[in-house]
Amino acid sequence: MGFIVIDEQRCKKDGLCAIECPAAIIRLQGDGFPEMVPGGEALCLLCGHCVAVCPEGALSHKHCTREECPPINKKLVLHERQAVQFLRSRRSVRLYQDMPVERETIQRLIEIARYAPTGGNTQLVEWIVVDDKSKIKSLAGLTIDYFRRLLKEEPQAMAYAALPRAVAAWEAGYDAVLRNAPALIVASAPAEAFNGMIDVTLALCYLDLMAPTLGLGTCWAGMLQRALRVSPSIKEALGVPAGHPHHYPIMLGYPKVKYQRLPERKPPKITYA
Ligand SMILES: Cc1cc2nc3c(=O)[nH]c(=O)nc-3n(C[C@H](O)[C@H](O)[C@H](O)COP(=O)(O)O)c2cc1C
Repeated sequence: MGFIVIDEQRCKKDGLCAIECPAAIIRLQGDGFPEMVPGGEALCLLCGHCVAVCPEGALSHKHCTREECPPINKKLVLHERQAVQFLRSRRSVRLYQDMPVERETIQRLIEIARYAPTGGNTQLVEWIVVDDKSKIKSLAGLTIDYFRRLLKEEPQAMAYAALPRAVAAWEAGYDAVLRNAPALIVASAPAEAFNGMIDVTLALCYLDLMAPTLGLGTCWAGMLQRALRVSPSIKEALGVPAGHPHHYPIMLGYPKVKYQRLPERKPPKITYA
């Protein structure tokens, strides 16, 4: 099979595949049918746009065949009002039911998160799932130990009130770091991912937005991340792969409460330059 295969019975020679290709490696031949330019294989991003854009289903790609790309179901397209309510109603969940999240459900979330865009379509994001509550508690404890050291050695850290408050809460028996969440998910990317932190963030955003559709809630674990950034031992305890400088953890679980209203946020500051 060639890198791209054209079904000449279906192709209407509209050239959409050629103008859409982000790597500009598809051209139209004299007879109007598309072909890949010589050496195009090495430049292909494997993004599948050429297959996705063809209204006739006439183009198939060696690594992204027509059969592997289901058609978009128009009945499932979100309307603006649905999208606005969905996006505005996503909340950071800090109260979780004492109930594990099934691994199949976590798998479903990650299966969708892998469709988030990545710089150059590199798709290098990897996942760690911690669903052992005692391990989650121990990670929270290591974070608190780090905060205690930080507050002792760099008293200016006191200015960030969340740190001393998290330590005080821990001493009173409450985990303000990981909120007794039953699961923790970490997305990470290796150094060679040239937009690694953005890739990780987008993948987690997809997971974050998908979670409520499965009855789940999430909360970005900024406190743990603060410790992870500087503590190789916490990174090791969590199992972040060596050579993955980009990472972020997110809590996951079944929420204890339901939200009834949409809180307001600051108006956007926009400059049209
Ligand atoms: C990068 C990031 C890190 C965060 N870290 C924490 C955290 O460590 N603990 C926590 O309780 N909430 C954390 N949050 C949640 C924010 O406080 C929350 O997004 C904000 O208050 C707005 O609430 P909402 O997400 O429900 O709209 C984090 C959010 C983001 C985006």
